[in-house]
Amino acid sequence: MTPLARTAVIVVAAGSGTRLGAGAPKAFVPLAGRTILQHALDGVFAAAPAQVVLVVPEGREAEAAAAAAAAGAAEVRIVVGGETRQRSVAAGLAALADGIDVVLVHDAARALTPAAQIAAVAAAVAPGVGVIPALPVVDTLKRVRGDDVVAPVDRSELAAAQTPQGFPRAELEAAYARAEAEGTDHTDDAALFAAAGGAVRRVAGSEEAFKITTPHDLERARMILAGPAPAVPRIGIGTDVHAFAAEGTLRLAGLDWPGEPALEGHSDGDAVAHAIVDALLGAAGLGDIGEHFGTAHPEFAGAHGDVFLARTAEILAGAGYAIGNVSVQFQGNRPRFSARRGEAEQALSAALGGAPVAVSATTTDGLGFPGRGEGIAVTAVALVHRFAQG
Ligand code: CTP
Ligand code: MG
Repeated sequence: MTPLARTAVIVVAAGSGTRLGAGAPKAFVPLAGRTILQHALDGVFAAAPAQVVLVVPEGREAEAAAAAAAAGAAEVRIVVGGETRQRSVAAGLAALADGIDVVLVHDAARALTPAAQIAAVAAAVAPGVGVIPALPVVDTLKRVRGDDVVAPVDRSELAAAQTPQGFPRAELEAAYARAEAEGTDHTDDAALFAAAGGAVRRVAGSEEAFKITTPHDLERARMILAGPAPAVPRIGIGTDVHAFAAEGTLRLAGLDWPGEPALEGHSDGDAVAHAIVDALLGAAGLGDIGEHFGTAHPEFAGAHGDVFLARTAEILAGAGYAIGNVSVQFQGNRPRFSARRGEAEQALSAALGGAPVAVSATTTDGLGFPGRGEGIAVTAVALVHRFAQG
């Protein structure tokens, strides 16, 4: 960013933060492991002003000095603030260095203000002209008296003012002297400058430059700094059991097994594929195999397991899920998987569009229906995750 020569930023941080109610002056309240002031100084120093004046509550000078030292290189002065924001700005003005001719006044409470906004305000300051960043008002506005709504308000005439607000130094000092002499108190510097006859123009503000005022605002700042939540993967489990049939050739794990007895079942009885389908649908919370491939879907009667797998991958993708991996275990005496494990893994993985599939097989030591050779059991687990947001 182009350095802001002859420009000072007065960062007012001397408020008590009553509405935030965090038990400390607002600028010193923690936000994502640092203080609100430290975050604000990131933006200020990135805009590279010639001088930074920090206006802080009494007793917080050393802490402010440490924050400024960690943040950047400009000349820094630290002063104690006053009872009102206006008094605090006045204290900051009194600490301006010689040679400064543009002054920006910035709320520490606007902790996430982009450096570009600070630079844009500085660039727009001209003799006789103050500059504020402002946003259009989005809410429909009403004039009220107590709980009575007495009139609509045309929001096209309104804008929400932010900081930093920038001014020619000598004119701002004169306007402050006048307000102090008159005893008037203004909520922002533009109002005070205008009261002294100065013109004020606006440049675009930004959503990020919102003021941290309430606990909700602090939470909003935390969420912005935390970034999008990492996608948590989801796990699913599926099992399938089939009895051996009297005739036919076995179809299992996406392969033909000549000489091995077939399994009973709707479709081809490929229990490995079916267990994987349930694991995947379960992981994505999208129902089960009966719902998507059961008797209500005659188009899948007699279909091969790899058709089920390809369709399942499609259903997941349609719901925004990618497949992480699948692990499936076969229990039974036959067929013997060891010689064809790699082949089975490749066939299953290809049917799923390339997601890794691991296949293991075990006998049950002669116990139960797999041990007696009546049928087989298969268990699958699958991990899925949401597609990265583009
Ligand atoms: N400010 C200041 N001196 C004051 C009052 C306010 O320097 N006497 C600063 C605050 O530190 C803040 C900015 O002015 O950065 C805007 O004020 P506001 O959001 O009202 O902060 P607080 O006055 O601290 O909050 P509250 O009004 O809830 O007490
Ligand atoms: Mg206040």
